[in-house]
Amino acid sequence: MADVKTHRVGIIMNGVTGRMGTNQHLMRSIVEIIKQGGVKIGENEVIMPDCVLCGRRPDALQELCKRSGVEKWSTDVEAQINDPSYDVYFDAQTTDRRVDWVTRALNAGKHVYCEKPTATTTEEAYKLYALATEKGLKNGVVQDKLWLPGFLKLKKLVDEGFFGEILSVMGNFGYWVFEGEPGGQPPQRPSWNYRKEDGGGIMIDMVCHFRYILSNLFGNIKCLNAVGSTLVKQRWNEKDKPYKCTADDISMTTFEMDSGVIAHINASWATRVRRDDLLVLQVDGTKGSAVVGLRDCLVQSAADTPRPVWNPDVPQPIDFYEGWKSVDPDVEYDNAFKIQWEMFLRHLVCDEPFMWNLLEGAKGVQLAELSLQSWANRSWIEIPELEA
Ligand SMILES: NC(=O)c1ccc[n+]([C@@H]2O[C@H](COP(=O)([O-])OP(=O)(O)OC[C@H]3O[C@@H](n4cnc5c(N)ncnc54)[C@H](O)[C@@H]3O)[C@@H](O)[C@H]2O)c1
Repeated sequence: MADVKTHRVGIIMNGVTGRMGTNQHLMRSIVEIIKQGGVKIGENEVIMPDCVLCGRRPDALQELCKRSGVEKWSTDVEAQINDPSYDVYFDAQTTDRRVDWVTRALNAGKHVYCEKPTATTTEEAYKLYALATEKGLKNGVVQDKLWLPGFLKLKKLVDEGFFGEILSVMGNFGYWVFEGEPGGQPPQRPSWNYRKEDGGGIMIDMVCHFRYILSNLFGNIKCLNAVGSTLVKQRWNEKDKPYKCTADDISMTTFEMDSGVIAHINASWATRVRRDDLLVLQVDGTKGSAVVGLRDCLVQSAADTPRPVWNPDVPQPIDFYEGWKSVDPDVEYDNAFKIQWEMFLRHLVCDEPFMWNLLEGAKGVQLAELSLQSWANRSWIEIPELEA
């Protein structure tokens, strides 16, 4: 058997004890990549991540090492950033810590891969991109929804021209996030999400996802109009203490695209689900429509479109859930976060193109920041171009 050439990539994983860090990035991406023998880049050539898990609590890090099989951990992130044996700094800390640590890592000459949002203001997010560019360092920002099975199917339909002329996009994201009152259901999300002063809020969290979903599928976004609110006023934190919610937990945003497509997406952590999935987009075109969730994509062509007539005096004769066909229901897809990690590792080692960088991250923050502004001013806002 020929020797396998292994390209080791040293990765500092910071914020890895959190929800996203542990589940999506460590367990479902990096550990799976290691298990499969690395990212194959040639007949006998692989990229192999070599990680150090970073955080504040030794016990949590040791536990995570046991669970993941990763051997190295540290509470001294600064020391790891200055260790030349690591090439990449990865950040999945709370949003408000990202700018400081990504800046430190770039200044220490590390390539950077990080969670979104990259900052809470466009100015700061753009500065990260400018610094990485000035230093000639590679960088990437998580834009995971692009590789969800449902969205890969939708992209295929768009590219094949299934829709004819695309007219509109209507989206709904959300579910009920439990308040965490002792004795009731535990909350599914960390408490900082509901405190503006700690980087929380659904607009800053979700609108950056909408930015890359819409622009990747339907082109440039021209302008927007948004409204939000803090619906649930009190929640309970990780220590069972009540706290006042200061961040928005619902956002309703309308976008106009250069292509003429209009899009409207709602996001709420205070809604109960009666739809196909936690995130659903409906795309309507002259020749057909699609309804896409995280995994499934259903289509109805113009020929299959029923002809409803308004008559509340009789029970609805049409079952509107019939007459839709599932696209590629049997095709298996890898985890979306893992797909993007593999692409980033190939970008690092093989210099393959990777367009989801800190500039794209800044554009996401920009859209979120302008949504907050639109809500505050009750106005439509044009979106200025962020230059490369
Ligand atoms: N891509 C996505 O779909 C997606 C989904 C949810 C969250 N996120 C983003 O991922 C990031 C993390 O979110 P999460 O839900 O995992 O949050 P979390 O609260 O579960 O985890 C946050 C991490 O930051 C660390 N941290 C917090 N305060 C710290 C401090 N003072 N010092 C050192 N470390 C500290 C925590 O220990 C933990 O490891 C956020 O920026 C969030 O916006 C992305």
